[in-house]
Amino acid sequence: MSANPGEKEGLSFQAEVLSNTALNAEHLLLTLKPATSETPEKKGSVTTSGGGAASGGGLAPDAKATSIKGSVTTSGGGTASGGGLAPDAKATSIKGSVTPVAPGQFYMLQVGQSAEPLLKRPLCFFRKGEGNTLEFLYRIRGKGTQLLSQIKPGAEIDVLGPLGRAWPRPPKGKTPLIVAGGTGLASLYPLIRSLKGKAVVFYGSRCGEEILFQDELERMSAELHLATDDGTCGSKGTVMDLLGKYKLTPDHFVYTCGPEVMTRAVTKAVLGAGTTGYASLEAYMACGVGACMGCVIKTTKGYRRVCKEGPVFKLDELVFA
Ligand SMILES: Cc1cc2nc3c(=O)[nH]c(=O)nc-3n(C[C@H](O)[C@H](O)[C@H](O)COP(=O)(O)OP(=O)(O)OC[C@H]3O[C@@H](n4cnc5c(N)ncnc54)[C@H](O)[C@@H]3O)c2cc1C
Ligand code: FES
Repeated sequence: MSANPGEKEGLSFQAEVLSNTALNAEHLLLTLKPATSETPEKKGSVTTSGGGAASGGGLAPDAKATSIKGSVTTSGGGTASGGGLAPDAKATSIKGSVTPVAPGQFYMLQVGQSAEPLLKRPLCFFRKGEGNTLEFLYRIRGKGTQLLSQIKPGAEIDVLGPLGRAWPRPPKGKTPLIVAGGTGLASLYPLIRSLKGKAVVFYGSRCGEEILFQDELERMSAELHLATDDGTCGSKGTVMDLLGKYKLTPDHFVYTCGPEVMTRAVTKAVLGAGTTGYASLEAYMACGVGACMGCVIKTTKGYRRVCKEGPVFKLDELVFA
């Protein structure tokens, strides 16, 4: 397996929102253009490597992030968090990247400029767009992502990253098999793309409207198997129902991201078939850089931080409650 590119940790940078486009009622695509790169100090408080408080928590001695506090303003001069916004889904785009990013890594994004919510929210790297922009696929879940969905083109937000460990490459001779549930596609999409037509992809969502980027996935995959709860796209049922009909063998190498119940079922099926792979996990995150211990999970190797030792973990290390 290749060295994990996730070892290279990103810095805080400001990014201009190019677009924040609704894909359906709950999902958006955000496009950002990094406006500055590795600027040591900007607009007030800054913390550098190893010590003080980053925006969102103190830094551990091994943390390398530099945090720059910036303001979020809309193109029209108002606040990003205020103002009437379209109630439906949008996409957000960030300009430019500061540090190379690999599939599976994530960024912490500022979602508003008021004190509440204070913390940035983690979103996976989805893909690079034209002009070295960064794209994020996200679902509105609570207050933070709701505020993010209201940020308009022209606004600037603080971004920290790339963070965490990337998806390792599949061992030679193994067939990569991807299992994506809902917004778990965000982490797996760049992996599928990087596998250049070799991946067998299983992707399930609640309904056909929530099967995103179907044409692109068809083009990028060796096989694409779709499932929806209501049967409006692909097979009716869960992605696990679909995977259950497929012959998993030790020649497969599995990558999965989705709801915990799905990750648990995939792990059981994969280990039962005598093979292994990786899962990307979710946890509540405060600092995102390994300092606050807020994202710790239990693994067979002891307690691990999802933001630092993850979010990508080997399937046989996972412990489910
Ligand atoms: C490494 C990582 C990468 C992620 N990448 C993406 C991505 O690419 N696209 C995307 O749409 N989402 C992604 N997420 C999830 C996203 O960060 C959360 O949906 C977001 O932080 C929720 O914030 P909020 O303020 O909108 O919701 P909150 O108000 O914080 O929560 C709303 C509801 O969602 C539940 N919830 C929120 N966060 C989590 C969590 N981490 N685990 C379990 N339940 C939770 C809460 O229990 C609550 O019911 C990622 C999470 C992690 C840890
Ligand atoms: S979010 Fe702080 S240690 Fe992981």
